[in-house]
Amino acid sequence: MGLIDITQLSKAFRSRGAGLLYAIENFDLSIEPGEFFCLLGPSGCGKSTVLTMLAGFEKPTAGTLSLGGKPISAPGRDRAVVFQGDDSLYPWLTAVENVEFGLKLQGLSRRERREQAMTFVEMVGLARAKDRYPSELSGGMKQRIQIARALVTRPQILLMDEPLGALDAQTREVMQFELRRIWKETGTSVVFITHDIDESLILGTRIGVMTAGPRAKLREIFDVTLGEDRSRTNPGYTSLYEKIHSIVREEVERSRRGDGK
Ligand SMILES: Nc1ncnc2c1ncn2[C@@H]1O[C@H](COP(=O)(O)OP(=O)(O)OP(=O)(O)O)[C@@H](O)[C@H]1O
Ligand SMILES: [Mg+2]
Repeated sequence: MGLIDITQLSKAFRSRGAGLLYAIENFDLSIEPGEFFCLLGPSGCGKSTVLTMLAGFEKPTAGTLSLGGKPISAPGRDRAVVFQGDDSLYPWLTAVENVEFGLKLQGLSRRERREQAMTFVEMVGLARAKDRYPSELSGGMKQRIQIARALVTRPQILLMDEPLGALDAQTREVMQFELRRIWKETGTSVVFITHDIDESLILGTRIGVMTAGPRAKLREIFDVTLGEDRSRTNPGYTSLYEKIHSIVREEVERSRRGDGK
């Protein structure tokens, strides 16, 4: 038994005219404590669907998801989620207040909350924008505030859906470094969706590649046994990149042709 166990998971959506459409079918995955699991796959294959069920926001059509042996039936404070897109901040709270919000339930004083929130606001490079409201922030800034808000509660599990997608290359690199540092320091377990193979190789302990949907499942899982040298000068890195790239490409092609099974 892992920390997260997903068994024979299926999720169908009612599609107009065509009855039930199975996005995911018989998806199996087990994740151990402390893993940084990256999930890759063609656009529309069902990555976000899996994450939404792990978060407890959606129920499976069939199969089970469990956390520490207990079925996932609702969202919980053990899991922090950074969703795709940038629209989940509270518009009536400033950037730093959004980050603080998650700490309210933890019984900290106002000062402690502000201090901890600011540590993470600074980490994501937004100290100067701390008093702005979400409507006054760019998409990438909002995304970074969402990340700070997820990290500040020090969750057992971090569920992240393309959290760095909206950032410029340099900011993205800094955020990857910080995420990896925090993951190492806290021992939190991460499920991280990305389109970027390099990003998955820089961050992950394992990388799962999904098949093209509909009826998507995991096609293959790669162990990332590269140690700390995660750069293109490491021959192990480039050979793993090539392997992953070739199957991602196959699945993207299948998805484009629409013959996913
Ligand atoms: N609420 C919904 N109602 C109907 N169909 C849905 C719903 N949510 C997702 N789908 C369908 O399920 C499939 C998987 O969607 P999902 O958002 O999980 O893909 P994804 O892998 O996250 O894609 P991307 O990389 O573009 O974010 C798609 O075909 C999508 O149209
Ligand atoms: Mg998605």
